[in-house]
Amino acid sequence: MSKIVLLEKIHPNAVQYLTEHGFTDIEQVPRALSGPALLDALQGAAAVGIRSNTHLTAEVLQALPSLQAIGCFCIGTNQVDLQAAAMRGIPVFNAPYSNTRSVAELVIAQAILLLRRIPEKNAKAHRGVWDKNAQGAYEVRNKTLGIIGYGNIGAQVGILAESVGMQVRYYDPESKLPLGNARPLPLAEVLAQSDVVTLHVPGGPGTVKLMDGARLALMKKTAVLINASRGGVVDIEALDAALGEGRLAGAALDVFPTEPKSEKEEFISPLRGRDNVILTPHIGGSTEEAQANIGREVAEKLVRFLGAGTTRSAVNFPEIAHQAKEVVSRILNVHRNEPGVIARMNAEYAALGLNIVAQHLQTKGPIGYAITDVDEAIPPELMSKLCGAPAVIRCHLI
Ligand code: NAI
Repeated sequence: MSKIVLLEKIHPNAVQYLTEHGFTDIEQVPRALSGPALLDALQGAAAVGIRSNTHLTAEVLQALPSLQAIGCFCIGTNQVDLQAAAMRGIPVFNAPYSNTRSVAELVIAQAILLLRRIPEKNAKAHRGVWDKNAQGAYEVRNKTLGIIGYGNIGAQVGILAESVGMQVRYYDPESKLPLGNARPLPLAEVLAQSDVVTLHVPGGPGTVKLMDGARLALMKKTAVLINASRGGVVDIEALDAALGEGRLAGAALDVFPTEPKSEKEEFISPLRGRDNVILTPHIGGSTEEAQANIGREVAEKLVRFLGAGTTRSAVNFPEIAHQAKEVVSRILNVHRNEPGVIARMNAEYAALGLNIVAQHLQTKGPIGYAITDVDEAIPPELMSKLCGAPAVIRCHLI
């Protein structure tokens, strides 16, 4: 039975899913571990589940020869040395889409609050000012929502926006199927036509300061900007200037170029103190539901890998789609991506009189991954022959 260790208070859904699928040897540690304590806890484990505070470095992975899979029960995977894991034949899984709905709901809420000027009314009420003025307060119905980045979250925001009566326009450099009333437009057109502009692009060099002074200047004076994607996507100084000069009606930001690493660190931003700006501490995807979804999604990926060798959606590994194991023996073989590895491996099967029923191969960079199905039992002593080629990194029977 494969031992699985779950650190950092992973949602109970994970344990439930694992046990329902026959993985009952589960050890849980409610906090992040490091150093010798981490190595002690993970000795003999086939899989480990972590969140963002446990660091699985190349040195840690080297000390854990039995580890076959890593589940990051979160979105980010920076805490794992992905390349070192791949080179040791260990796929890493995460849950990139479990919090899509949480982000989308927050964006719609912010759009409604900003168009009604609620942040300002709220701030004034806290200061004892009773401002009942309707000027500049609008319904979202029949207004235009502009989505920059029509991916998982962007498309979901579009669906919710249409259900409250908004017209949806979007810009995405990739061709995307428009859902509902959504229509693609060039970026400048989306910015010029929208009453609410919301950003759902990836981070990285391609989107740094995507919303710079020039693009902010294309937006209507009455429009608002929402960013729950990545902090670097908006030029904060340019946004601050546009808000200060009344060239934008408001903004909601959930992500920032520099974010405090913990509650103990002060949050610094030029936008602090602006009544028409909603500031939230990167909680767009932080809901109980998202945590529950993450628990189930990553547990399912671990079960599929340990039970059938499936690597679909692994972040560092050749991806092989799920094929239920309906044969007696399935051999998982991770090898260096070199010419002739499969030919040599298959020659060994033939030499041992083993008939291959099905075989799936995928490569990614320096790694090749093959799943081979054989409809008879393979004695353990034959495995050393099947797995003996010099290019083999990891090879075992399930
Ligand atoms: P996704 O990869 O599904 O969608 C991103 C879309 O942006 C893709 O369709 C892509 O073609 C498009 N895109 C790329 N470059 C672009 C550009 N220059 N202009 C316009 N579109 C561009 O990503 P997903 O899952 O929808 O996430 C979107 C963002 O939300 C990511 O940056 C992610 O890190 C962030 N996020 C934030 C959370 C929070 O707590 N605030 C939680 C979850 C995700």
